[in-house]
Amino acid sequence: MAEPSSSSSIKIKSRTSPYVVICWIFAAMGGLMFGYDIGISGGVSAMDDFLLKFFPNVYARKLIAHEDNYCKYDDQMLQLFTSSLYLAALVSSFGASKACSVLGRRPTIRLASVFFVVAALISGLAPNKAVLIVGRILFGVGVGFGNESVPLFLSEVALPHRRGAVNIMFQLFVTIGILIANLVNFAVANIHPYGWRIALGLAGVPGLALFIGSFVIMETPSSLIERGHEAEGKQSLQKVRGVDDVEHELEQIKHASEQAKKVKHPFKKLMKRQSIPPLTISICVQIFQQFTGINAIMFYAPVLFQTMGFKNDGALLSAVITGVVNVVSTFVSIVAVDRLGRRKLLLQACVQMLICLVGSGVILELHLKSVGTLDNKLATIVVVLVCLFVMSFAWSWGPMGWLIPSEVFPMETRTAGFAFAVSTNMLLTFLIAQAFLSMMCHMRAGIFFFFAAWVVVMGVFVWFLIPETKGVAIDEMEERVWKVHPVWKRFMPRDDGKGAELT
Ligand code: BGC
Repeated sequence: MAEPSSSSSIKIKSRTSPYVVICWIFAAMGGLMFGYDIGISGGVSAMDDFLLKFFPNVYARKLIAHEDNYCKYDDQMLQLFTSSLYLAALVSSFGASKACSVLGRRPTIRLASVFFVVAALISGLAPNKAVLIVGRILFGVGVGFGNESVPLFLSEVALPHRRGAVNIMFQLFVTIGILIANLVNFAVANIHPYGWRIALGLAGVPGLALFIGSFVIMETPSSLIERGHEAEGKQSLQKVRGVDDVEHELEQIKHASEQAKKVKHPFKKLMKRQSIPPLTISICVQIFQQFTGINAIMFYAPVLFQTMGFKNDGALLSAVITGVVNVVSTFVSIVAVDRLGRRKLLLQACVQMLICLVGSGVILELHLKSVGTLDNKLATIVVVLVCLFVMSFAWSWGPMGWLIPSEVFPMETRTAGFAFAVSTNMLLTFLIAQAFLSMMCHMRAGIFFFFAAWVVVMGVFVWFLIPETKGVAIDEMEERVWKVHPVWKRFMPRDDGKGAELT
């Protein structure tokens, strides 16, 4: 479908200085915090000491040898431990959007890190369930602030023809965070009775790294200019481009900022016809990202593998393997996203994910009964299918869920629009975290077919409705993407002034 004619129409001079690379890396540490949290809770909730202290009922059920395979971890409170973080992140992403607009991207990143460090301390020392949940909620606020500000920061400092790769640094660090968490889970599983405290408390390390990073990175040129600091904005642009002559791009940002200033209420503007295309796409990309079922695997990989008959250690080890696959495959995306484009990666992944989900579903349906385990060979095949599934997610829906919403909104609705993407991610992650164990208990292997059906829906959506945004400057999307797309052009104001309302 719609491809932009060529790469950006603005002639941008640039030189990637080591300082710029350091900025990318430090900002992307926000992803590390998010990823560590995703990875840590599944492992912690499979640890006996943790269950004994906070969820003795689940522990007691786990001990009954013939407990139903698909139901042994089904406990609303245990699921709430995993998912409360996402509810807090959902709400806080709107506050983070305001912070991003009023204070800027950099202070919002710093705030995120502070929430994280405090949350890690509280969780690691938690004496009871209530404090444990407070810690999770603070982690959530940190995630809301970090996930709102970091992808925006990265997209705004990147050159158009490298924006995909730079933005995906966030997702890369998410995957590294998940992997580190899996390794930590593995390492502390046999430290009794405090292994889980170490696992939760170590979340403070990425938080601390981000806090330090927030003093090293600069504010983005767009954010400075949007907030009226033109001279600093120019300096920041010179710094991120590594050259003095930035006039052309500066003019473009100033123009976007003048348009933005006419809009007093970004959230109201988001409800106008003209915002429907980027808003629909940003929300849907996030809904679909979660309906791939990825977090059923990320949160509950150890639990899932135990269900298949791996012992505690075997289960954690398999989760480490999926973690490595996740990191390595994200590099494919970094290399491919600005060459092949977003659409091709998303469509290819739909096919691969469909095959893996249906394959795993069939094996479990036929061979994993309520009691007993899968035989070794079949369990290994399921692990391989799960790895192939994670691989395709890692180069497609994972990174695109953050990249696409960060690049499709004009300056005036960017932070507000992106907040919808972040909160949709959190809402869906919450629902899946909260519902997955119960769904597995009721739907059994059918859960794999449920996600497979969604993969088909998202493939059709990409084919018809997601435009290619590779190489287009972030402030040129309207002209070069929306106005030429066969479906979305109807929502855009026409050059003769008719059509969608402007403000
Ligand atoms: C998603 C997370 C997921 C992770 C897996 C992220 O992009 O938002 O929900 O767990 O990717 O790598």
